[in-house]
Amino acid sequence: MPAKRGPRIIDGKKTSGIILEELKAEVAALRTKGVQPGLAVVLVGEDPASQVYVRSKRKTCADLGIASFSHDLPANATEKRLLALIAKLNADPKVHGILVQVPLPKHMDEQRVLNAISPDKDVDGFHPVNVGRLLNGEEAFVSCTPAGCQELLTRWGYDPAGKHVVIVGRSNIVGKPLAALLMQKAKGANATVTVCHSRTKNLAALTRQADILVAAIGVPEFVTARMVREGAVVIDVGVNRIPDATKKSGARLVGDVAFAGVAKKARAITPVPGGVGPMTIAMLMRNTVLAAKRAGK
Ligand SMILES: NC(=O)c1ccc[n+]([C@@H]2O[C@H](COP(=O)([O-])OP(=O)(O)OC[C@H]3O[C@@H](n4cnc5c(N)ncnc54)[C@H](OP(=O)(O)O)[C@@H]3O)[C@@H](O)[C@H]2O)c1
Repeated sequence: MPAKRGPRIIDGKKTSGIILEELKAEVAALRTKGVQPGLAVVLVGEDPASQVYVRSKRKTCADLGIASFSHDLPANATEKRLLALIAKLNADPKVHGILVQVPLPKHMDEQRVLNAISPDKDVDGFHPVNVGRLLNGEEAFVSCTPAGCQELLTRWGYDPAGKHVVIVGRSNIVGKPLAALLMQKAKGANATVTVCHSRTKNLAALTRQADILVAAIGVPEFVTARMVREGAVVIDVGVNRIPDATKKSGARLVGDVAFAGVAKKARAITPVPGGVGPMTIAMLMRNTVLAAKRAGK
């Protein structure tokens, strides 16, 4: 008897590489017209994970020909100082996008800081104006991780239209905006969306109904095979560092999905790392190019 074929691995690294190449060409074309997209990347403090993210965003800008403006503030910087910097960046015509790396130090009000970014430069898509526009189906900066999930689905041939998408997680940066995005009456959307969270009763009965299951929970390997329908498409947004004595660093990354078991039932699945993660940064670059184009209009 032939062995059961494994699922398709939705390779986000490969897809993000293709998108970055497309963007590189767009940036080159803009530059011949005298416009160089510019992204200001603001880091407050020395959180090691944030430093890694910020470095990689700045490097990707350089690879694409996008100007990146680095602003590193000490962990004890006041919120007033950060707000003054944001005001300066809002007014700077060379800066098309502003990214403030979160989490911010505890003494700062994160939402107040993010709300200070001009909605026209809000390439992270966290500003209430962009969130509202997304919900209304208007042109908006869509937050990068949800946009990356949608892009993976459509580019790999899993159009959400008419499908039942079950999202586990209702955060403002992943679950909620992804639900808003996929329920739109628009290309790459038109899904029937169910959003689950920690108060959801009988979670597995709901996740088993999913044609497309998205896990954005933050709990290592939470979604197990018994929670997944045979033939479902599984998108794992989770990034969790767990101890692993066999690794030099003493840890490894796992998603919110128990990959080995779920892969036996899924039609297609994203790996961690190398799935949604690389798409998030590609979408940030796409939003920055979009911001530059809109500013030029
Ligand atoms: N790949 C990327 O680029 C990227 C970007 C962002 C986040 N992430 C990762 O994605 C994961 C989620 O991030 P987040 O910021 O959305 O996390 P979050 O703000 O902590 O939200 C987690 C969500 O999961 C729900 N949840 C927690 N335990 C649950 C349970 N036992 N049953 C059902 N639902 C449960 C929570 O429900 P309640 O609302 O009821 O508390 C909440 O809605 C994390 O691993 C994070 O590292 C990855």
